[in-house]
Formats: sequence, C-alpha cells, structure tokens
Amino acid sequence: MSEKIWIGKWITDATYDFGEGESPIPMEFRYDFSIMDKKIETAWIDVTAWGIYEIELNEEKVGQDYFAPGCTSYKYQLQYQTYDMTANVKEQNTIRVFVAGGWAVGVFHMSRKNKIYADNLALLAELHILYEDGEEIIIGTDEDWQVTQDSSFRMAQWYDGETYDATYTEEKKHWKKADVTIPRHNPKILAQYGVPVRAQERLIPQTIFQAKSGEYIYDFGQNFTGVISAKIKGHEKQKIIFRHAEILVENELFVKPLRTAKAAATYICKDGEQEYSPRFTYMGFRYVGVRGIEPENLELSAIVLHSDIEETGTFSCSNELLNRLQENIRWSGKSNFVDIPTDCPQRDERLGWTGDIAVFAKTACYNFDMSKFLNKWLLDMNAEQVEDGGIPFVIPQGADTWNPMVSACWGDSCILVPWAEYLARGDIELLKRQYPMIKKFLKGCEKRASLLSIGKHKYIWSLPYQWGDWCAPDTNMLGWWLRAPWIATAYFANSAKLVAQIAYILGEESDASYYEDLFQNIKQAYRDVFTNKKGKVKREFQSAYVLPLAFGMVELEEVDAMVENLQKLIDKNGGHIATGFPGTAYILYALSDNGRSDLAYKLLLQETCPSWLYEVKAGATTIWERYDALREDGTVNFGDEKKKSDDSDGGMVSFNHYANGAVGAWLYERCLGLEAIEGGYKKFRFKPVIGGGLTWAKGSVKTPFGKISAKWSIEENMLAMEIDVPAETSCELVFPDGESHSLEVGHWEYKKEWKGEN
Ligand code: BGC
Repeated sequence: MSEKIWIGKWITDATYDFGEGESPIPMEFRYDFSIMDKKIETAWIDVTAWGIYEIELNEEKVGQDYFAPGCTSYKYQLQYQTYDMTANVKEQNTIRVFVAGGWAVGVFHMSRKNKIYADNLALLAELHILYEDGEEIIIGTDEDWQVTQDSSFRMAQWYDGETYDATYTEEKKHWKKADVTIPRHNPKILAQYGVPVRAQERLIPQTIFQAKSGEYIYDFGQNFTGVISAKIKGHEKQKIIFRHAEILVENELFVKPLRTAKAAATYICKDGEQEYSPRFTYMGFRYVGVRGIEPENLELSAIVLHSDIEETGTFSCSNELLNRLQENIRWSGKSNFVDIPTDCPQRDERLGWTGDIAVFAKTACYNFDMSKFLNKWLLDMNAEQVEDGGIPFVIPQGADTWNPMVSACWGDSCILVPWAEYLARGDIELLKRQYPMIKKFLKGCEKRASLLSIGKHKYIWSLPYQWGDWCAPDTNMLGWWLRAPWIATAYFANSAKLVAQIAYILGEESDASYYEDLFQNIKQAYRDVFTNKKGKVKREFQSAYVLPLAFGMVELEEVDAMVENLQKLIDKNGGHIATGFPGTAYILYALSDNGRSDLAYKLLLQETCPSWLYEVKAGATTIWERYDALREDGTVNFGDEKKKSDDSDGGMVSFNHYANGAVGAWLYERCLGLEAIEGGYKKFRFKPVIGGGLTWAKGSVKTPFGKISAKWSIEENMLAMEIDVPAETSCELVFPDGESHSLEVGHWEYKKEWKGEN
C-alpha cells in the first residue's frame, strides 16, 4: 500500500483543550467555495481525521459511512476515505466536516483514558474538482478553513453517548480561522482498506409502556448495536433523554451492567417537527427509556450499525431453539464487528480483545465474509507485536495498560484468526503475510514454557500471565486462572500443529517438520505430566479433557477412557457445560469426534442453566458473556457467588458477547456437516453428525468457487443427502455409516436406509 502525497495540512482549533477523562466537544470545520462557469467531470474529497468525522456538502451528508476514518493502530496506520461529490456540487458550496473524539482522541477504555493517540481533534482533507476540459482544482485543508466549537453536537463519546442541541443555529456560531497543527504521531495514511461501518437495517419498537419511574420504555425485541432514530414534535429548548439498556429488571431499564457507560442520547429541540439520530456514538441495547416527551409526539425507530460485511453462510435445522441460537450467534457477531472485533458493544469496554475473536473466528467466517475486516485488524496486530513475540491483549492496544505478552488463547489469535480466514477463503497470501508473526509468537511460547524447567516440563506452559479457563461457569476468576497451565499447554500444542500445517502449505517443509515434532513433544508432556497415562487427568475439570481430545493430543488407546472421564464430569455437573471461553469452542468436537455425538447433542440441547439453550429459553436474542447472566430466578449475575457482591469479577455481565457463540462452527461442521478440507473449500467434506432428535438440517456457504448448499433429512426411515458442488472443487460425501462418495461439480442427491437413531 503506497502513501498519498497530501496538499492539505492538518488543521484544528489550537485554543481548545479538554480535561482528563473527558471527550472533546466535537469541532465543526467549514469551507465555502464556488465553482467556475464550466462543466464538472467529477468532484471528490479525500478525508481523514484524528477522531471520527462526518462531512456535509450543502447540508447533505456525504457518503454513508459512520465513524470514519475507522479504528486502526493509529501509531502505525490511519485510513483516509474518498467520497464522490459530483452530484451535489453547485455554483456556491459550503462544506462542513464534524470531528468528534472517537477512538483516537476521546475516552476509549474502561480506565476512561482520553487523548490516547492525539492531543486534539484534527482534520486533513483535500477537495478535488476536475472540469471536463481537464483543469483540476485542489483545495486542501489550511488556515483558510474555519472552525467552531459551537456546532449542535455538544458531547459525543463511545460510552456516554451524544448530546445534540438543535438550538445552536448558524447565527450563534463563533467561527474562527483554523490552525495548522502537527499531530503527535505520524502514521502511514492509507486509502480505506477495511470495511466501513454503515446502517444495516431499521428496527421498529415492538412494545411501548410507561415504567413506574415515569420513563417510557420502548422494546425493540432484539439486542443489537446501533443508534436510535427519532421523529419529534417539539418546542424550543425541550430536552429529551434516550437511555439504553440490554435488559429490564422489574420493568425498569437495568443499566448496572454498563458500568461507567451512561449510554444516553440527549436531544434539545428547536420548535416544530424535527429528526434526530446520533452520529458519533453507538450503543448496545434492546430497550430505550425516554424522558421529556410523550409517545404521541415521538416516532422512534432504531438503526442497526456494524461493519458492512456480507452474510455469506446460512444454517437451519428442525429444532427451533437451535435456529434461534444460530440467530443469536449472528446477532452477537454483527453487534461486535464495529470496525474492530470487540468483546461487547455496550459497557465501558468495546475493545478488540484477542481471545474472544480467537475462539469465535471460525464461526464468524462461516456466517460472514470476514476477509477485509480481519485483514485490517491483523495488520494492526502485526504492527503491535513486540520483539519477544508478545501481542497486546486488545488490538489496537490504545489505552490498555497490559504489556504485550505471549499468552495462550488470546495470543493464539495470531494463528487461529488467519487460519479460520484461510479455510473459508483460501487466501494463501494472508498466511504468507502473517507467517513471520506467527513464528515469532510460537517461539515466544516455546521460550515461556521452557523457562525454569527441564525435561518434559519444558513443554508444560505454566508461567503467567494467562487468563486460564476464562468465564468457566463452575468456578470464579481465581479458579479460571488456576486452570491456566492445562489450557496454555493444550493451546500451545494445537498452535504447533496448525503452524506445521501452515508451514506445509507455504512450502516451508523444514519448519513443518519442526512444528510437527514440537506438537508431538507437547502432546507427550501433557500426557506424562497431567494425566495418569490411562486417560485420567489428575486435576479434573472439563476443559482439561476437552482440549487434548479436540486437538488430537490423546493416544488412541486412551481416547475412550478420556471421553468417559469427561462424561463423568458432565454427569456430575447435571449434564451441563463447565468450560470457559477456551474450552467452549471445542467441547462438542471433543465429544462428537471421539464417538460420543449423543453426548455432544445432549449438551447442545440442554435447556437448564448453564447451557446455550437456557439463554434462548430465557429470551436471549444474542449470546451472553455468562450462561447465567440472567439467573433462573430473574436476578442478574455479576460474578462471584461466594463473595455475594455485585461488583466482583469486574462486574462482567454482558448480554452481547460472542465468545460462547463459538459453538456456531460445530453447527455448520458437524450438525450440518459442511467443512473445508483445503482453503476456500477447494476440497471439502459433507459429513453430517446426526443426532439430538433432529430430522433435517440445511445450510450454505459462499466460497471463492461459488455457493455450496447442503441438506440432509430423515423421512420414513430414509436418510437423504443433497449437495451442490461448485466447479473446480471436490467434495467427499460421507454417510454416518462411513459409505462415501467423491463428487465433482454438480448437484448430487443420495438416499439410504436409515436405521440409526436421530
Ligand atoms: C472482556 C473479555 C476479555 C477479557 C479478558 C473482559 O473484560 O470482556 O471478553 O477477553 O476481559 O480476559
């Protein structure tokens, strides 16, 4: 990516400052220009900012993007956008650019740090007018532009929301000359290479009622990420407050899970009919509480916002609860793809936590075309990796104070994310680009594991810092941490195995055999150190069995015993899951791929807490951070039961957290049975795992070779399988009894007597 040479200069209002922990009042920049008396061929603007911006030409929004220039690791790279303006240029023109704090200058982190990458808001733009006779006029930002702090946007911030005062009319604004500035960082300014955030759909409230507190509550029926959109009949200075929440408790908004985030939009009216929708913030919500206006004077809807990624996968089956689970997974995906992959969209976090996408990447790549989105984020990861292989826990690191570290699962995102993307899209170039980073990380793992240890212990990774079995429902935060050595060692093994595969694909044969040996050594060490060598883990918990089983780390003759011991733990837990994020992504594979699809379905279809379908039955419309976020008695779980304190475990209770939705990959790969064997589905398999009383499943994925649709169904003791195989691909269709067919391009249908149980 080569860099553009800018004629425009960075401009700001140098007299403006704002205090610690505050987000700046947005700046409005203005430039008036006229055009010559001849025909224009095209007119466009190149723009970027420190902060986030929106442009208006002659009072009309330019482009459809939200939150441009997007979130990147601004020390290294900053995107700029190009918007066509040909249709809206008149003889006399006014261009306005509003710049708000966003990720770079505003508060963005639970520590409420601001000015993370720049000390002030700033704008860089270049307007191009190309006349039909070939003459081109370029107007760059400089001191001839004007700036004011008196726009209607009085406050804008990710966590707290936005305040808009419609009484700030043009006459009341104090304009002054903009100042040229030199920003703190000097990143590469690159043409947009990520996916812009755009409005995706409009939701209409399903019910409206007045709470005891007096607030009117609008229920949109779906938890999502976005902003309200209001048509208002109001009078000058009337103040309307829109508060947002994911849940209600006793029919009032329950905002405690938002922690310090105020998540409110405040609108101050002018006289008459008017419209308002926030532009420099977003919220994660289902409910909106409104004060300051009666429902008859308000037409409220909501706009769903997320990165404009294409939905490329479908899955459905004969079980309606599972279909809702699939919907919830998709909604949590979309809600957390707002320019970067975030942990959650509502509380004072919304950070690019690496561990969450590490486990969810595969599911994401089944449901959406993640290529551009992840490619952008991985570039930031590359830029932020440190010499010893360490990777920040959140990317971009921004205000996060953790040192970049070599740490399991979270750090493994540098392997698991490009690998998932490679399988879905077959992009070898991406693997090639990421390979040096991957090797550096794995070297760091080797070093960490072998520090202060000898013999087989060199492959046991017990040194901190590790997040461990994060969010496991059967213990508390300390318990998650104490499980770290098992989790870290198993992830280390899996990564060695995957990197051996990657090395092989890239033609790095000697690396491939090195990593294959490394995998064997770690596998052996796990068995020798952690188990009795007869399939029993000495310190038992579900993830300690799940990971070695799913990662192919168990000797053939010990598999049955391991699975049986895992089953005992599940039984002891009343048939419930007890894995944290790192194990949850793999537990169903550990069972179904080792002869216990019955048990996999039992866990999947479990309806009491903790389980995926418990959430569905409790009315969830997205995936929760904790299965028991809302307990069976209707109270909200804030963390450690034993401490009986609402704020223990960091008050972590998000209702829109995709990590546990990692089960979605199993729905595609096992329940439906569609799985890429070679990148981009050049070779793929159609091998359903039938069970759980399901009578059919169907779905599709969009591959670089075309769409694959697959369906299986059981009717009158016959199992039917149908598949579309795109040109240039090959498919191995496998019946549950092992009968298989090698298929090339075309539509294929097979039927066979079904005697098994489904
Ligand atoms: C986030 C998680 C994240 C974790 C780190 C939490 O606050 O919401 O999803 O991965 O911290 O372990």
